[in-house]
Amino acid sequence: MVNHESDIFKSKITFYVLACWILAAFGGLMFGYDIGISGGVTGMDDFLIKFFPKIYERKIHASENNYCKYDDQLLQLFTSSLYLAALVASFFASRSCSLLGRKPTILMASTFFIAGAVLSAAAEMKWMLIMGRILFGIGVGFGNEAVPLFLTEIAPAEHRGAVNILFQLFVTIGIFIANLVNFGTSMVHPHGWRLSLGLAAVPAAILFLGSLIITETPPSLVERGKAAEGKAALLKIRGVNDVEAEFQQIVAACEQARQVKQPFKKLLKRSSRPPLIIAIALQIFQQFTGINAIMFYAPVLFQTLGFKTDASLLSSVITGLVNVSSTFVSIYAVDKVGRRLLLLQACVQMFVSQLAIGFILHFHLKETGSLDKTLSAVVVALVCTFVMSFAWSWGPLGWLIPSEIFPLETRTAGFAFAVSSNMVFTFLIAQAFLSMLCHLQAYIFFFFSAWIFVMGLFVAFLLPETKGIPIDLMTERVWKQHSVWNKFFKDEGNRSYEL
Ligand code: BGC
Repeated sequence: MVNHESDIFKSKITFYVLACWILAAFGGLMFGYDIGISGGVTGMDDFLIKFFPKIYERKIHASENNYCKYDDQLLQLFTSSLYLAALVASFFASRSCSLLGRKPTILMASTFFIAGAVLSAAAEMKWMLIMGRILFGIGVGFGNEAVPLFLTEIAPAEHRGAVNILFQLFVTIGIFIANLVNFGTSMVHPHGWRLSLGLAAVPAAILFLGSLIITETPPSLVERGKAAEGKAALLKIRGVNDVEAEFQQIVAACEQARQVKQPFKKLLKRSSRPPLIIAIALQIFQQFTGINAIMFYAPVLFQTLGFKTDASLLSSVITGLVNVSSTFVSIYAVDKVGRRLLLLQACVQMFVSQLAIGFILHFHLKETGSLDKTLSAVVVALVCTFVMSFAWSWGPLGWLIPSEIFPLETRTAGFAFAVSSNMVFTFLIAQAFLSMLCHLQAYIFFFFSAWIFVMGLFVAFLLPETKGIPIDLMTERVWKQHSVWNKFFKDEGNRSYEL
């Protein structure tokens, strides 16, 4: 699993390739903006009065149980409907990525985002609101499928981790911007929430224009029979005159991939299981860290802890900032220390943080009343140490690793399973969190820490290191060399190409 000298193909970081990375990463910003905007909007009185008057009534009865005042299935459906739409859309996006390419799929994503932003900002009735969310969700399904694959495929192997993490960096920037926007629009009455939802059109428009400028990825071009264009694209993104060796590796991977007519069927084969299990497990685990309980509901959560509306929005701005800045650690470290170390270190830090939050709330936050000032500050600090470690590990690597471990023939199909698993579990947490908070109270943090413990074991024993390995050599160098996963290749004999 060592990096072979000959794998390091020559490349330069040109202005054009940098532009491609950043423009595509705007797909991440859209996803992040949405994650960050919903919690704030559902906490705004004007929004609640217009669409959810009963919850508003409940909210103003201050004596109500702290843990339960926001528990409402419909309100949660507003937040989570997007993820259901994204879940279904990611499979269509996989087909579109294979048949049409990564670039047009990103273009489609931006179009759905724009439509979703316009409809939700103009919403007069609940159905318009939900429709807007669904359009947005389709955008997320298309964007989250195509962008990480795009970044992984155009990055040179030795910087692949860092380049792919631009997606996650933009997710965190999107969340942060959304927190700031909510902070400002919560003071604009009565239409602040419209601004919050509608402003998503700005990054969506940038993504739209960007998707016209970016290149198609060389593997996607070659796979679709456009070898000459693929080579030209490779020359352009590598910025050097000689790309022959890398090009030949892509051609070889494509030849193999072209034999596979039904990638989803091929995924069911025994030899496809190792990357499939890892990709799905990483995404499920990513959600069971409990990150989105904090990201979606930070303002609501901080209000639950007894902060006033402004103070709670401010606290979520702080966590947003921690989220962005810690992602840089990952960009710097991922291709140096590797994926496994980042994930394992983070498990320890997240485990301790969640446990400590749980204990403080369990012993000090009564059903009514609030935490005292010092303890509240400690809880905010613990939320920050939790978010920090997520941001340099499970956040970015949940997207990076599934995008780099599949061979070309099953890459878009396999990655669609990763995206959709993320969406299912994001949906479940978004839908269930407020009810869980109401019923489990502080135990919810113990629930997440138990998961984090399991995740640590999973990484320790089952996750191979993929740092620096060219993506087209993963099967030979990673899966077939791993003491557990190599068994899945033992009785394969010759690969069967009839699928
Ligand atoms: C996750 C999101 C999460 C975000 C937080 C992403 O990697 O997929 O669910 O909200 O990170 O930064």
